Amino acid sequence: MARSLFLRVLVFCGVLLGGVRGKTTTATTPSYTSVPVYPAPLGGRNSQDNDWLDAYDKARAFVTELTLLEKINLTTGTGWEMGPCVGNTGTIPRLGFTSLCLQDSPTGVRYADYNSLFPAGLATAATFNKELMYQRGQALGKEFLAKGANAILGPAVGPMGRTPEGGRNWETFGPEPYLQGIAGALSVLGIQDQGVMATAKHFLLYEQEHFRQVAEFQGFGWSSIEAPYSSNVDDRTLHEVYAWPFADMIRAGVASVMCSYNMANNSQACQNSYLLNRVLKDELGFQGFVMSDWGGQRSGVASALAGLDMTMPGDGLSWADDNPLWGPQLALSVLNGSVPIWRLDDMATRIMAAYYKVGQDQLTIEPNFQSWSFDTYGAVYPRSYDTPYATINKHVNARSALSSNVTATIATESMVLLKNNGGLPLQAYGSLALLGSAAGPPPLGPNGCENLECNNGTLGMGWGSGTANYPYLVTPLEAINAKVRANSMSLAYNLDDDDLDGCASTAENMDAAIVFITSDSGECLASVEGNIGDRNDLYAWHSGDDLVKAVAAVNTNTIVVVETVGAIDMEAWIENENVTAVLYAIVAGQDVGTGIAEILFGDSSPSGKLPFTVAKNTTDYPASVAYTMSSTSPQINYTEGIFIDYKHFDKNDITPRYEFGYGLSYTTFEISDVSAEVVDSANISTYADTAPAYLDAEYYNETYLPSSNSLIYPDDIPRYEYFIYPYLTVKQALNVYYNDNAYPYPNGYSTEQASSPSPSGGASGGNPALWDVLATVSASVSNTGSVYGGEVVQLYISYPTVTDIDFPIRSLRGFEKVFLDAGDSATVGFNLTRRDLSYWDVITSDWVLPSGEFGVYVGNSSRNAVNTASFEL
Ligand code: BGC
Repeated sequence: MARSLFLRVLVFCGVLLGGVRGKTTTATTPSYTSVPVYPAPLGGRNSQDNDWLDAYDKARAFVTELTLLEKINLTTGTGWEMGPCVGNTGTIPRLGFTSLCLQDSPTGVRYADYNSLFPAGLATAATFNKELMYQRGQALGKEFLAKGANAILGPAVGPMGRTPEGGRNWETFGPEPYLQGIAGALSVLGIQDQGVMATAKHFLLYEQEHFRQVAEFQGFGWSSIEAPYSSNVDDRTLHEVYAWPFADMIRAGVASVMCSYNMANNSQACQNSYLLNRVLKDELGFQGFVMSDWGGQRSGVASALAGLDMTMPGDGLSWADDNPLWGPQLALSVLNGSVPIWRLDDMATRIMAAYYKVGQDQLTIEPNFQSWSFDTYGAVYPRSYDTPYATINKHVNARSALSSNVTATIATESMVLLKNNGGLPLQAYGSLALLGSAAGPPPLGPNGCENLECNNGTLGMGWGSGTANYPYLVTPLEAINAKVRANSMSLAYNLDDDDLDGCASTAENMDAAIVFITSDSGECLASVEGNIGDRNDLYAWHSGDDLVKAVAAVNTNTIVVVETVGAIDMEAWIENENVTAVLYAIVAGQDVGTGIAEILFGDSSPSGKLPFTVAKNTTDYPASVAYTMSSTSPQINYTEGIFIDYKHFDKNDITPRYEFGYGLSYTTFEISDVSAEVVDSANISTYADTAPAYLDAEYYNETYLPSSNSLIYPDDIPRYEYFIYPYLTVKQALNVYYNDNAYPYPNGYSTEQASSPSPSGGASGGNPALWDVLATVSASVSNTGSVYGGEVVQLYISYPTVTDIDFPIRSLRGFEKVFLDAGDSATVGFNLTRRDLSYWDVITSDWVLPSGEFGVYVGNSSRNAVNTASFEL
């Protein structure tokens, strides 16, 4: 277990980053700080990453040919609305290399037509179906490719969902790092198998909307804010919770990572050298490029040195200010020696390596849509008064049979049945009443509000940049009406949430009354009904509790459908015996109504499981959104550490209303015959074998710097207002003096590349030995009921006792969804890797495999994993 001196140096850094040293008092003396780590690791040095090495060979051959300005064009966006996509890089016309089109969102091609609006990440997680996770990625990839986008700005695995009210939790796969990691990685594979670059976002610790950006929140009235919030976290939590899913996505080969708006341990995420240079590019061995969130870049040289590779959308400190931090400024920084030329070369090479990695050199990718207008013919650069005009929208139908299948299947499989006292499935006869606006169409149509910034009618998605236009929206009313017709039933409805008496009288004397309530959230691009992105509370919107109570008072068979972005507080009525069933429809996309009707009528047995915990009281959760500023630089201390969601409830013995992993079915399953064993050849040493040393660092011709005069704006190219060009003005060119000591470099600044990775690094995702399978588990599952259905067999583990290390009572470490006919059985198997069984040690800055007895718990929820086994390491 002896570690080298090199390791001990890292040890020190690791402890420092932890930074849990007292409470924060003021913005000027933050208690939590982030250690500086330099230099930015050069890409293309992981000796075992063969796909990436091939891509780097091609990228180096390409970048070798580039001039300084051409390299800069790869790194800097052309400005907001200065091209068809939400992000557009500069071009290299000399080599016929067109702009890279980077487009939102994780749920579909944003700002386009003839695209799908896929179920959100959280709905996808609720299916617990790996095949669907991959297929959704594939279908998304196909649509982005059909629209001519090089990169999709997704999947999102941050926010993790530390606080249940967090506005963008629904974009990701829920507050369980293991589940986020599997879903994120399968999404990346699906997307990139189509030749589209995936972007893992948001790195890192972006857990709430409030105070994410200064100007934005000044706009919301917090005039004294001086810095975005800082998520303050210890190093173990950072690795075991928040960085965990990124490791899986990097292992899956993700092309790009987007750094976030917030600060982490008081260092801005897009210039946090510990996060980018150490965690991402060294420990996680990331070979692609880091792009800033839109406006998330807060410095020029500092961000370059700290590992940022691409700035988006290219403008500077203020939104669309035409005053870039890179572009010409990056050229100047290289010319005057502040940014070493190898850093610029590495940025360009990383971008091109990602491009080759997914095979874009074999494709013709030209955007055939424009984000800023649906007109066929229009302005190419809409913010420029002198913009050229051209055909900007070809209205290409990007949808495929795969898309339709995926959107409908996930909509159905993501439905989570939480309560069923016989209310469901509905009998195919009799009378139904539907109550509440969420049963019916949004009054202004599915896309009546920009970025879906409203909650009127059926809720299939949250709001913000994580959305796309609906091609159509199947409402529950429409889907249920069709079934009612087909089954000779009768249907009444009242869609007015405020008309409690009217709804009650519509519901009275009906065989079943189905009440639709909602809870919405989104990105703080907008405040919706007073919610600035984050939900103000966990209660149903539009007085949903009152509606349920009014209907349940008159109808003994009241079924509640909750169209929601996450957990809601149902305590006002959940135990009401007239509420006979409760179904969660978690942001299920364009086919949400179809999914709801399929389950209500029993055409499919529900098989979704909660990808988060539903508490009895909001205060039962470990953390809540910081809605007020603790200081002018808001400090958010993650004092709960690794114990978020069910791990917190388990640790503190708090009974949730419904636990993580929970969901009912119309049939019954029995799980049995659980066995666990250590793999024969497993290397069960405390630390993984050292990863191979890095390949030699390769540099381009470092001594060559062009004369500044040669970078002056040429006279013979058009110059559009607000377009970010890389060229220098005459004045700038005249004032360049090379002095590579002039910049006030941060402490610890170095230009010397390491010869070996950190102990936990060495390949994409981390030390390859972390994925060695050390133990296996198997279990049987039988459908003991009377109908076909799906069950999610879940594997949780407990750790041996280790002095001073607090482990979760249970940690999810495997899940498999199995569909079985009544009476059938299957066997499921799980692999437990070194990483699955290790914890992050802040002293050695490495994963440590504890020795002793590991408990194995298999079942169908985090609190019903009652089939046990164990193994010893
Ligand atoms: C969001 C990102 C998004 C970007 C581009 C930002 O405000 O945080 O998730 O990809 O905008 O629209």
